[in-house]
Amino acid sequence: MALIDQLNNDASVHGILVQLPLPKHIDEQAVTQAILPEKDVDGFHFQNIGMLTAGATDSAFVPCTPAGCMLMIEDQLGKDLSGLDAVIIGRSNIVGKPMASLLLAANATVTICHSRTKDLAAVARRADILVAAVGRAEMVKGDWIKPGAVVVDVGINRIEVEVDGEKKNKLVGDVDYDEAVNVAAAITPVPGGVGPMTIALLMANTLRSAERSAT
Ligand SMILES: NC(=O)c1ccc[n+]([C@@H]2O[C@H](COP(=O)([O-])OP(=O)(O)OC[C@H]3O[C@@H](n4cnc5c(N)ncnc54)[C@H](OP(=O)(O)O)[C@@H]3O)[C@@H](O)[C@H]2O)c1
Repeated sequence: MALIDQLNNDASVHGILVQLPLPKHIDEQAVTQAILPEKDVDGFHFQNIGMLTAGATDSAFVPCTPAGCMLMIEDQLGKDLSGLDAVIIGRSNIVGKPMASLLLAANATVTICHSRTKDLAAVARRADILVAAVGRAEMVKGDWIKPGAVVVDVGINRIEVEVDGEKKNKLVGDVDYDEAVNVAAAITPVPGGVGPMTIALLMANTLRSAERSAT
């Protein structure tokens, strides 16, 4: 908390990010809310969350992962998603909820799914835009995907595979890429999709913060 206070008051610092999750004995909310909203480049301060939820997407600092996902969706489908069904699997504060706000602001019809959703595959199959942010290796199968959908795979999961009789670790997403790639119009790979975009958007938010502080 002392360090955050020091960085809050340092005019040469424009962005503060706390790497989550924190150890259990540290109050995550107290720490993230101590960051000044104007230096909160991760978009976790309630003021930024409120602005995003209210549709003030240009004024708020938007969490970097969903902001990066949105750029890739816009790249495929344009800025106006009117008439398109978007389904998000996962309702976390970091990914699922802000993703929903962004898609809604772009006029998509948004459904948020989670562990209590009934017949997830059927709901996913309605999606023109499917965002998977679950944390379960290759859970979304090819037949969960509407032909021609745009699929954004946020999940990062480490699995063990055997290569030439040797056990190796491999990173996979929440989507079964080999199946999905034959059905989707576009799909982000894991690794190399959402991850690099998250980093790029963190840089963009920090630059924006520096520009704002200079004007
Ligand atoms: N590429 C990147 O830069 C980046 C950034 C952030 C996160 N990630 C990755 O994205 C994944 C999700 O992250 P997160 O922070 O959002 O995770 P999280 O906080 O654990 O949330 C996971 C969500 O998935 C839902 N869920 C779990 N099992 C499910 C099931 N069987 N069916 C339907 N929904 C299910 C949970 O439902 P309940 O709410 O009902 O429990 C929850 O809403 C992780 O793999 C994480 O590593 C990647």
